[in-house]
Amino acid sequence: MRILFVGDVVGSPGRSMVETYLSKLKSKYKPTLTIVNGENAAHGRGITEKITRNLKQWGAQAITMGNHTWDNKEIFEFIDDVPQMVRPANFPEGTPGQGYTFVKINNVEVAIINLQGRTFMPPLDCPFQKADEIIEKVRSRTPYIFVDFHAEATSEKQAMGWYLDGRVSAVVGTHTHVQTSDNRVLTGGTAYISDVGMTGPYDGILGMSKEAVLKKFLTNLPVRFEVENGREQLSGVVIDLHKETGLAKSIKRIQINEDHPFHD
Ligand SMILES: [Fe+2]
Repeated sequence: MRILFVGDVVGSPGRSMVETYLSKLKSKYKPTLTIVNGENAAHGRGITEKITRNLKQWGAQAITMGNHTWDNKEIFEFIDDVPQMVRPANFPEGTPGQGYTFVKINNVEVAIINLQGRTFMPPLDCPFQKADEIIEKVRSRTPYIFVDFHAEATSEKQAMGWYLDGRVSAVVGTHTHVQTSDNRVLTGGTAYISDVGMTGPYDGILGMSKEAVLKKFLTNLPVRFEVENGREQLSGVVIDLHKETGLAKSIKRIQINEDHPFHD
């Protein structure tokens, strides 16, 4: 089992990178399953039905979300009709959408779980307890359990990695938009990276216009952030899993940008 995961797709630069490179990455790495984080895909905030369709057409078989899930109000009209989409599972009971799902590929099921951190983020339910709850439910159905932990603090992400080590296939961090170089298989067999990095503008600040973000830092006045234009990047990971146990053999980083051009 090989999983290709593409980090936070930001606005049209992110979408254009997915459109251009996802099929090439799939030809190169031949993943069994391809997952994309789409929570910033619509102008950096949320996702639309059309973009959900596009991401699927370009090769995403599942879409994970995060704190921006609800920013594009259209989400409430379609989230319950997309079985391959997960939003953070630790929102309160009754929240639209789902926190985990199963995707079936060649008769093999993979459980995909989305969780959101609480450090420097809104106070949702405990992501650790929620992870326990969901793993308990899904592990009788499949050994392949993929967790996208959408969180701000590296410490909380590492804590989740170690908490779930040996119980899930992978814990990948998203949200902070800068790829970390700490990808490794933890001692219990779970693939881990603190942040996969984002897919979108290469020259902005976390994907947003550097002029606007700088203005915010320099003046502290309210500033409207727009997605940066110009050069683009794609960030991802490829994770190989053992057949029987679902635990990880390896996790490799992918970066495509002008400094790291794509090679077949
Ligand atoms: Fe986020």
